[in-house]
Amino acid sequence: MSNLYVMDHPLIQHKLSLMRDKETGSKEFRELLEEISMLMAYEVTRTLPTKEVEVETPICRAKTRVISGRKLGLIPILRAGLGMVDGIMTLVPAAKVGHIGLYRDPQTLEPVEYYCKLPVDAEERELIVLDPMLATGGSASAAISFIKKRGCNNIKLVCLIGAPEGIKRVQKDHPDVDIYIAAVDEKLNDHGYIVPGLGDAGDRLFGTK
Ligand code: PRP
Ligand code: URA
Repeated sequence: MSNLYVMDHPLIQHKLSLMRDKETGSKEFRELLEEISMLMAYEVTRTLPTKEVEVETPICRAKTRVISGRKLGLIPILRAGLGMVDGIMTLVPAAKVGHIGLYRDPQTLEPVEYYCKLPVDAEERELIVLDPMLATGGSASAAISFIKKRGCNNIKLVCLIGAPEGIKRVQKDHPDVDIYIAAVDEKLNDHGYIVPGLGDAGDRLFGTK
């Protein structure tokens, strides 16, 4: 079974409460998502391997450590995942970014793929799939399946809010993928929206409703 890391740091909880507020406009919503993503990146990258290097400080030579091993790839699920990229890139600017375009059919709630472009060396990278909302889990699970079909096997999923149903679905379909999340909410409503959630993340991010 994959690990579920709930990142309920006070700063993350505070900013997420502001995002949930329906009076929060697109500009502030975007800024908050970027800030929370940056805070989450700190924890998600905790297990990156390091190696020893020698550095000449103004005082003396010193043995210190830098990140080594696999390089990172960020895979936002369009559209709302885009809002998480810049915050993480601020901390890991060398990461490459691939995009997966999926939308959820409003009737069936099944994910429909319309775009996929991954870094050429994706299978050599540690990939972090990004989507603020994990509702039924259909989109995240499908995105991870597409990536695995391309030969990638080192994958993490980072979301903002998850419903228990979505978390269970990803853990069942992809037991090898660890999930990092800021909050686990109560349930899904009849339209597949997370309760209490924050509404439609893509629309609030891009002001399309
Ligand atoms: C939202 C969200 C996830 C998906 C979650 O995207 O950003 O990708 O729904 O739902 P699921 O877990 O039930 O699959 P949406 O399909 O609304 O597309 P958009 O980001 O383009 O608005
Ligand atoms: N997609 C969203 O943007 N919000 C939800 O609550 C569920 C799916």
